[in-house]
Amino acid sequence: MALLSVQGLTKRFGGFTAIKDVAFEVAEGEILGLIGPNGSGKSTTFNCIAGMYPATAGSIAFDGREIAGLPANRVCHAGIGRTYQIPRPFRNLSIVENVALSAWFGQNRDVSRAECWRVAGEVLEMVGLPADPKMRTDGLGAAALKKLELARALATRPRLLLADESLNGLDHAEMDQAADMLQMIRKQRGITIVWVEHIMGVLMRVVDRVVVLDHGEVIFDGRPDAAQSDARVVEVYLGSEAAA
Ligand SMILES: Nc1ncnc2c1ncn2[C@@H]1O[C@H](COP(=O)(O)OP(=O)(O)OP(=O)(O)O)[C@@H](O)[C@H]1O
Ligand SMILES: [Mg+2]
Repeated sequence: MALLSVQGLTKRFGGFTAIKDVAFEVAEGEILGLIGPNGSGKSTTFNCIAGMYPATAGSIAFDGREIAGLPANRVCHAGIGRTYQIPRPFRNLSIVENVALSAWFGQNRDVSRAECWRVAGEVLEMVGLPADPKMRTDGLGAAALKKLELARALATRPRLLLADESLNGLDHAEMDQAADMLQMIRKQRGITIVWVEHIMGVLMRVVDRVVVLDHGEVIFDGRPDAAQSDARVVEVYLGSEAAA
C-alpha cells in the first residue's frame, strides 16, 4: 500500500483551474520529485494535501486514511510535514525558538519546554544551523532560511515531508547541498519525501521517480532518466528550461 495516494485532485480558484485530475502515489521510503514549469500547480498540489485550503475535488489517502478536507493542523498531526516555498519564520523569535515551537506544535500533547528545545537542537544540527539561543532570523540569507524552513518541518516529526524548495536564488553549491540534505534526511530518519522543484538538473540526481505537471495536469510519471527522453516532458519542460 502506498503511503500517500492522490486521486482526481482538482483545485479551482474562482473560474481558474489550477490543478485538474492530478493522480500519483508515493511509496514509503521513496523520494519523489514533483516538477514542472512555473505556475504548473506544484505548490497548489502541496497546499491541497497539507490542508492549506480544501481541494475542489479528489481523494488524498495517507497511510490508508482519507485526509482530504482536514485542516492543516490535523494533517500535520497525522504525520505530514511541509515547507513553504517562501520562508516566513516568526521574526520576533530566535532561530531555536522557531524550531522549538514547531516541535511543541507537532507533538500535539503536553511536552516540556526542555524536550522541545532538545528536539530543536537536534534538527538544527541536522540541517547545519547554529542552535545558539541568541541568534535571530534577521541575518539569515536565502539558503539558511530554507534550512530553517526544513528544520521547522522536521521538528514536527513527520513520516512524510513535502518539501517546496524552489532553489531559485541559491548558487550551485547551495543547491547541491539542499539535495544532499534531503537524501540524508531519508537515510537517517526514514522519512518519505516529495520534493517540489522546477530546476530539473539538481533534483534528478536524488529522486527515485518524478511526476511532471504542466498546466495543472500530470504529463509524466516514471523514472528520471525516462523523463529526460520523454517527448512531452522535453517539449514543455526541458524546452522552457533550455530557453531560460
Ligand atoms: N491562492 C490562489 N488564488 C488564485 N490563483 C492561485 C492561487 N494559488 C495559485 N494560483 C494559481 O494557480 C496556478 C498554479 O500555481 P502554483 O503556485 O501551484 O504553481 P507552481 O507550480 O508552484 O509554480 P512555481 O514554480 O512558480 O512555484 C498559477 O497560475 C497560480 O497563479
Ligand atoms: Mg510553487
